[in-house]
Amino acid sequence: MEYTKITAEHISYFQEILGAAYVHADIESLENHSKDHTEDLVFLPELVLKPGTTVEVSKILSYCNEHTIAVTARGAGTGLSGGSLPVKGGVSLSMTRFNKIHYIDEKNFQVSVQPGVINEALQNAVREKGLFYPVDPASKGSCFLGGNVSLSSGGPRAVKYGTTRDYVLNLEVVLANGEIIETGANTLKYSTGYNLTHLKIGSEGTLGVITNIILKLIPAPKNTLLMLAPFASPEQACEAVNHIFLAGANPSACEFIEPDGFRLAANMLQISFDIPEEVQAYLLIEVDGNEMPHLMDECEKISEVLYQNQALDVLFAETAAQKEYFWKLRRSIGEATKYNNTYKEEDTVVPRGTLPELFKGVKEIGARYGFRSVCYGHAGDGNLHVNILKDQLSDEFWNHTLDQAIVEIFTLCKKLGGTISGEHGIGLVQQKFMPVVMPAINLQLMKAIKLAFDPKEILNPGKVYNS
Ligand code: LAC
Ligand code: ZN
Repeated sequence: MEYTKITAEHISYFQEILGAAYVHADIESLENHSKDHTEDLVFLPELVLKPGTTVEVSKILSYCNEHTIAVTARGAGTGLSGGSLPVKGGVSLSMTRFNKIHYIDEKNFQVSVQPGVINEALQNAVREKGLFYPVDPASKGSCFLGGNVSLSSGGPRAVKYGTTRDYVLNLEVVLANGEIIETGANTLKYSTGYNLTHLKIGSEGTLGVITNIILKLIPAPKNTLLMLAPFASPEQACEAVNHIFLAGANPSACEFIEPDGFRLAANMLQISFDIPEEVQAYLLIEVDGNEMPHLMDECEKISEVLYQNQALDVLFAETAAQKEYFWKLRRSIGEATKYNNTYKEEDTVVPRGTLPELFKGVKEIGARYGFRSVCYGHAGDGNLHVNILKDQLSDEFWNHTLDQAIVEIFTLCKKLGGTISGEHGIGLVQQKFMPVVMPAINLQLMKAIKLAFDPKEILNPGKVYNS
């Protein structure tokens, strides 16, 4: 597909509909919209537009569709697969002005919120009313809900509460031709034909631009308890995860962390974290609920399982500050890896019971190809983030040979019943690996769906499937 380059005429049209203050063609703005958190990739858009209303988005899309101008919607730019990078130039459609919570409907346990609201801002707003929006990606302090919906983002609490997908009831979406639709209904159940809401969730801005979101809320649990268990064997830590669930426990987070992950985070945050030499893995486990005695029982049960599975210790976070300290360290690992190294991040996910095999396989493949990896992530979901470090590896290895190793890792995921991304999406960087887990027919179906929504392929071109 050939896309039309932005001209002065296009710019004056956009200035007319948005006002000049929301149309940016200066190099600083273009550079600010050329990157996200994925590796060090840079793709300059030709223009940045900041609409403030759904009607403005509709006018922009209908114009771009008519003129075949590429449009890549952008939230906070915290993505890890290059989904918001404008690889074909054109317009970077910044959703930052869509930053309002329209209403919190306490009677129906739902909220109407714009896509440019920061995840944590929503969590805090509903908490004040005793309600809970549990989805908490590591970047919750900066990522936008629109991006969360576009990737069905998860986070530590997904193990108990599910991912973004499980909370989206309805969406307002502007289609490529400018038409504005609602994808479903504001109901807890939906059995009314094809579910366009779920089709849109995880479609990474390729099927339309989200302009409003209706999310489900649940009652907020009043208390949490947090435990940290060091292990001498990482495989044993992965085994322990499975046994926690087999024992009937229902933790609200169950995270696996290799010590290097904590080391990198502590280094970036400039805080001290003492890691004894024999420790080769940690599990960070949280339980939540209302009744403290019940939570204590749950922790006792989990502790028992941890010790039975060779945990070296089980440490409790005694205070709110200690809990925050551990979570801050944990949430910073991704950012800290990027801060300290050149790296590639793979978002492997397998059925939980096969996690020990995945971990072992990743390390075996790493040893064979000669790369170091820092593994961490949502063990309770079987979702292991594999951060591959460049260290002293040659550019030739990094840019070419490493792909073979990644194919081996993803082939193992597939063999174990898993796939290549649990929560970070396909975007730009994982596209080439889609055939490892997807037969051609699945990709053809995706393409057909794409063309039904966006026949001229103006929306986020060059993403998800190989276009
Ligand atoms: C995390 C992000 C990278 O779990 O998904 O830290
Ligand atoms: Zn994660």
